Amino acid sequence: MTEYALITGASAGLGAEFAHQLAAKGLNLVLVARREDALSKLAEHLKEKYQIEIHTLACDLSKPEAPVHIFDHCQTLNLKISWLINNAGGAGHDLIADRNWADHAAFFQLMMTSIAHLCHLFIPDMVAAKKGHVINIASVAGRIARAGGCNYGPTKTYVVALSEELALTYASSGVKVCALCPGYTHTDFHETAGLMEMKQKTPSWLWYSAETVVREGIDAVQRGKSVYVSGKLYRLVDPILQSVWTRRFFKIPARI
Ligand SMILES: NC(=O)c1ccc[n+]([C@@H]2O[C@H](COP(=O)([O-])OP(=O)(O)OC[C@H]3O[C@@H](n4cnc5c(N)ncnc54)[C@H](OP(=O)(O)O)[C@@H]3O)[C@@H](O)[C@H]2O)c1
Repeated sequence: MTEYALITGASAGLGAEFAHQLAAKGLNLVLVARREDALSKLAEHLKEKYQIEIHTLACDLSKPEAPVHIFDHCQTLNLKISWLINNAGGAGHDLIADRNWADHAAFFQLMMTSIAHLCHLFIPDMVAAKKGHVINIASVAGRIARAGGCNYGPTKTYVVALSEELALTYASSGVKVCALCPGYTHTDFHETAGLMEMKQKTPSWLWYSAETVVREGIDAVQRGKSVYVSGKLYRLVDPILQSVWTRRFFKIPARI
């Protein structure tokens, strides 16, 4: 049976870059996101360039039924998923200022529950096959609490914790799990979130390309890293953020 990489959020940014780099390795692809047209366009391009098989599936991962729908789709087509890239995500809402709880529930579903659910559905077959790679996209924002982040960072902290536990649990089974933690990365993320003004004000040396982040992430999971911070600068800063000696200096309360 030919092997597939399943990539969520493949219609743009890091997900599309994962599709390019995993296709270049000869893997077949299952591409998932809400925008079917963008997925189809990418699929056509990669099929022609790499002569691989690609399936696209338009799916909203903020809906609780989405992970089972994706899994059933792969089962029906008999697609063996040996790489799972849980990448779909967005900036979310202000937990306190946005008074519509349904927005927050959908955000938790997209950012945490769908990732746990897809791991729950796809990892057993990887364990049975004694091989598999799972990359869960977290963020540097999940590595330390910060004022004003409200909800995005905590969801990424969960993704790191989940990935580390899964990595430890399945280390001896041949299944490798990695939380990839990018810092600022050039994708559509900030434009979609209405954060272009912030992006323009942030120094350019803090920004990495999607190509670098994805290349480092693929390399990290293959080397068995359970958490990997992408970008030299962020890798340098991360141990300082995690240190019990220095951590408190980086927690600056907001003035309300
Ligand atoms: N860019 C950064 O600076 C940065 C830094 C750290 C971490 N990250 C993380 O990296 C991941 C990818 O983001 P990106 O930077 O590549 O942003 P992006 O260019 O905006 O891409 C986001 C992707 O997620 C998909 N998506 C969003 N909501 C979805 C939903 N409800 N259901 C299914 N798919 C959905 C989008 O596709 P559709 O709109 O077609 O559904 C798109 O393909 C996210 O988890 C983000 O939190 C980004």
